[in-house]
Amino acid sequence: MPTPLTRTLVVNGEDRTVTVADDGEQLLYVLRNQLDQRGPRFGCGVAQCGACTVLVDGEIRRSCVTPLRTVPEGASVATLDGLDANGAHPLQRAFIEQQAAQCAFCVNGIIMGAAGWLEQRNESGETAAPSDEEIAAFLSGEVGESTFNYLCRCGAHVRMIRAIRQAAEELLS
Ligand code: FES
Ligand code: FES
Repeated sequence: MPTPLTRTLVVNGEDRTVTVADDGEQLLYVLRNQLDQRGPRFGCGVAQCGACTVLVDGEIRRSCVTPLRTVPEGASVATLDGLDANGAHPLQRAFIEQQAAQCAFCVNGIIMGAAGWLEQRNESGETAAPSDEEIAAFLSGEVGESTFNYLCRCGAHVRMIRAIRQAAEELLS
């Protein structure tokens, strides 16, 4: 039996209240259909690709498999839509400069995952930019708090590694 739920979340710095008929509604659909956030995308729907990646209280989350009931009241949710609030984020600039996409469908989630990962490294006191090997491991789901991998069906991973390294160096400088 579906259970209705109302939550107030802080989405990209703004209080937003949503009501769903079923508290198992995934965060991805709440963000896209009710809150007009077009950053997170539906790719696979089963936590395998990363296109729907957002940050919940700074944690990397796959919004396609995050029921709204598991997101705490008042949680902060960051999507790509808000990443340029203070001008283009270094990751966004680096992805453009390195031309790190072909179709770009995967990029929204990869940028958000990378933003969360670089922030987590920063908070843990890491002072050096990640190596290409570390970034490749991150994209493969082998490092960081998140064990999810990121798929790019166009095969732009090598350019993405360059872009993430460029942004990491800029964020540390
Ligand atoms: S759509 Fe969520 S991981 Fe693919
Ligand atoms: S650029 Fe097309 S899926 Fe990644």
